[in-house]
Amino acid sequence: MTAPESLTDPESLRERALEALVTARDRTALLTSCVEEPELTAQHSPLMSPLVWDLAHIGNQEELWLLRAVAGREPMRPEIDGLYDAFEHPRAERPSLPLLPPEEARRYAADVRGRALDVLESSTFRGTRLTEAGFAFGMIAQHEQQHDETMLITHQLRRGPAALTAPDPVAGPPFTGPAEVLVPAGPFTMGTSAEPWSLDNERPAHQRDIPAFHIDTTPVTNAAYQAFIEDGGYGDARWWTAEGWDHIRAHSIEAPLYWRRDGGQWLRRRFGVTEVVPPDEPVLHVSWYEADAYARWAGRRLPTEAEWEKAARHDPVSGRSRRYPWGDEDPTPDHANLGQRHLRPAPAGSYPAGESPLGVRQLIGDVWEWTASDFTAYPGFTAFPYKEYSEVFFGPEHKVLRGGSFAVDQVACRGTFRNWDYPVRRQIFSGFRTARDGAA
Ligand code: AVJ
Ligand code: FE
Repeated sequence: MTAPESLTDPESLRERALEALVTARDRTALLTSCVEEPELTAQHSPLMSPLVWDLAHIGNQEELWLLRAVAGREPMRPEIDGLYDAFEHPRAERPSLPLLPPEEARRYAADVRGRALDVLESSTFRGTRLTEAGFAFGMIAQHEQQHDETMLITHQLRRGPAALTAPDPVAGPPFTGPAEVLVPAGPFTMGTSAEPWSLDNERPAHQRDIPAFHIDTTPVTNAAYQAFIEDGGYGDARWWTAEGWDHIRAHSIEAPLYWRRDGGQWLRRRFGVTEVVPPDEPVLHVSWYEADAYARWAGRRLPTEAEWEKAARHDPVSGRSRRYPWGDEDPTPDHANLGQRHLRPAPAGSYPAGESPLGVRQLIGDVWEWTASDFTAYPGFTAFPYKEYSEVFFGPEHKVLRGGSFAVDQVACRGTFRNWDYPVRRQIFSGFRTARDGAA
């Protein structure tokens, strides 16, 4: 894979890093200014931090990596490091910590940013692995955008009237293509050694030989998922793993999170508004257990992570792996629903310009897609620049999600990007597509 020039030339890199940092901060500012101050310090769910924690944590990570690690500066406020260390304090504890109040958190993050932009201004992007190709700047922009998605999850959990609004995706013609495509057997290159801002768990590039399989052309829709519910799917142990069955019984789970039955129809709450569940939209807010059970009910299975990536990146003509399903160019609004431009997924089958060579749609954007796979290290993995980003999460307790949601920015989303979570989680913007073995 040859990286575009914008990923190698220093002035383009500087511009790219600046734009990524500014875009992230604009989003952070919006997410933390659209509610009153008491709502910033409140905990809207024990699953989430108060928004004001995310805000100062964003600043603190930027200070750690861009000011201390890259530029060798002294700590600005060493006494706060512990408060914003995600490993010292689990989310449920964070509201009781002596956190910086909103105004102070904003000032701290802005102070760090001012200094980080000075560091960026004089960077040569050479010398160390951290500064090579602007990696640290890219990593920090991705980190902020990941927390911007986390904060949007908090906004969705929050009770009360809508604080955020966005235009709906523009509806295209209804999708009339095939329900699934065949991905022929053969090797492909998984992961990357070339993508300059790829994170440690996406590396290195390596070959995988994948038997033929079929994969859904689009994510599973609300209408399809409703058929599973109406067929008694949540009451039939045959479709569930033992842990999944125990979990839904123990928590009386009978539908995706935020759904409620109203007579003959399903309603859902979405960012403070209650609406009829749109049938043609990808299903959202399901756990891995629910995705896995639906797939079994449908006589199918979840794709493995390698299958997902082959469907998303493999170009059968050239034999090489692309950065995105549509090619190597960065996403535009025609390719994918990303970046919180819309606060919902687009109808299944949208974004023809974003389809893969085999015609698979919406692999990037709209909903994170659960895969069958545990989060594990690729052969040759080395933790960089810190073990707590990926390595400490490797193992069977986390399942991999791929492709990104409407809530994630393009800087933190690509064909190789890996997300992970516990199989019970469904406050995240999670959906799925299904697969089945190909002909022998
Ligand atoms: C990759 C989304 C699972 O939010 O826990 C943010 C990203 N890591 N700060 C998370 C992350 C450190 C991470 N996920
Ligand atoms: Fe973080």
